[in-house]
Amino acid sequence: MERTIKFCDVTLRDGEQTPGVHFASAQKLDIAKRLRRMGIDVIEAGFPASSAGDFDAVSAIAGEMADCDTCTVSALARMTTADIDTALRAIGPAKRKRLHVFIATSDIHLENKLHMTREQVLARISQCITYAKSKNIADEIEFSAEDATRTDLGFLCQAVECAVAAGASVINIPDTVGYTTPDEFTDILRAIRQAVKGRYELSVHCHNDLGLAAANSLAAVQAGATQIECTINGLGERAGNAPFEEIVMALTVRNDVIGVFHHINTREITETSRLVASLSGIRIAPNKAVVGANAFSHASGIHQHGIMNSRATYEIMDPASIGLRTADTIVLGKLSGRHAFAERVKAMGYSLTAEGIDAAFTRFKEIADKKSVITDEDLRAIVGEYLDSLEGRYYLSTFQIQSGNHIKAMALVTLKISADGQEPYEVTEAAPGEGPIDAAFNAIERIAGAEDTELISYNITAVTEGTDALGEARVKLKSPADGSVYTGRGVSTDVIKASIKAYLNAINKWTNANKKS
Ligand code: KIV
Ligand code: ZN
Repeated sequence: MERTIKFCDVTLRDGEQTPGVHFASAQKLDIAKRLRRMGIDVIEAGFPASSAGDFDAVSAIAGEMADCDTCTVSALARMTTADIDTALRAIGPAKRKRLHVFIATSDIHLENKLHMTREQVLARISQCITYAKSKNIADEIEFSAEDATRTDLGFLCQAVECAVAAGASVINIPDTVGYTTPDEFTDILRAIRQAVKGRYELSVHCHNDLGLAAANSLAAVQAGATQIECTINGLGERAGNAPFEEIVMALTVRNDVIGVFHHINTREITETSRLVASLSGIRIAPNKAVVGANAFSHASGIHQHGIMNSRATYEIMDPASIGLRTADTIVLGKLSGRHAFAERVKAMGYSLTAEGIDAAFTRFKEIADKKSVITDEDLRAIVGEYLDSLEGRYYLSTFQIQSGNHIKAMALVTLKISADGQEPYEVTEAAPGEGPIDAAFNAIERIAGAEDTELISYNITAVTEGTDALGEARVKLKSPADGSVYTGRGVSTDVIKASIKAYLNAINKWTNANKKS
């Protein structure tokens, strides 16, 4: 009989550790609903002890899953009673609850980070899992040996043995720094199964530093793993986590060689991937496997000819199997009403408040006046920009730019400032720059006192095709104080306006984090 592989999605926890990514609680809930709809078995909703915001988001997701017995809600905790108590409180409302505790096991981490001996680590594992179990709240306890793949194998087996003996029923072997290879990982997992008897789910959690996360996860399945931890679009620290969509499609398309079941409705992949891209602000590379824009496009004449005869010549999966429509359907135009707009936005997975719908609808109408048709991609850009702009203190009132090939660019920008408890007021600044956009950014920096921040990336792309296409600008700003990264996006049919809005978005996030007053 074929084994069933469980998917544990960690987009809302590890995925949020992508530099510059921050999901608001409401956005996490929207993503969680999409994950449930797609058939994800376990959602790691967050790390409740890390912040009050994370606690609230995990509780909200647990509340949403109060009657759901197909989707378990998991929360991460370090091996301390305080973290464990907080995580258990946060997952409380869910019908199916999992506590995920972790501690590093490699000598590199023990010596340089934890300053603990191996004996102390083993004792901590036993104490904390026994403590968590005694609370009788979580249906299951997952234990992760952080940096497992650089851990002495004998000690790793001892740590797993301790965790199983104390009551952990899910054993997760993370390749925390994306260091292992498929063959080596296979050997590690087989050695664990051999050394530690008993009933436990064997889980893997691979990072992508060497681009091997998907391959290592698949090797793990063949070595007997029964759960894969991964993120949508491969979001995550550094090079990211194992990409969900690649693994699930590999399991599906190559069922003939891998031979395992899963519970995923693969037709939900495209919409879920796009929702996460829109809410995270992290674009999907066009050549990304499965969900990239080029994944089903054929440029060479020989390939096109083959495809015309039979799609099977150069396509190994049917685009419909991942829910991809061959043409992005034109859904709305300037005559569309608020109701149609709200329905479409909801169907795409966003839950906006009535106020949010009003604000996004106003933006939609402005754009629909300039652009004949509004596609789903346009709508994602409009809603994404609206959600980013919620953290606002500075709003664009007006701008004027002078630029040419014989003059230095000059920008005059007026911002409306709405600081807590004060009547909104306007400030105008002029600044020169290397071009119109540089000049506008310099004027905004002067107004916001953000001269020290560093613009680390700026790009603009057309959301769809055509001369009236919506331009979407994205910027990343680095804070000089602590190196934190703030992302911003702006959309407009005017690329300078889109750029200014994106920059303001990022400046607003930086201001909120650094100048609370
Ligand atoms: O990568 C890692 O080791 C983790 C653990 C907390 C599971 O994310
Ligand atoms: Zn991780």
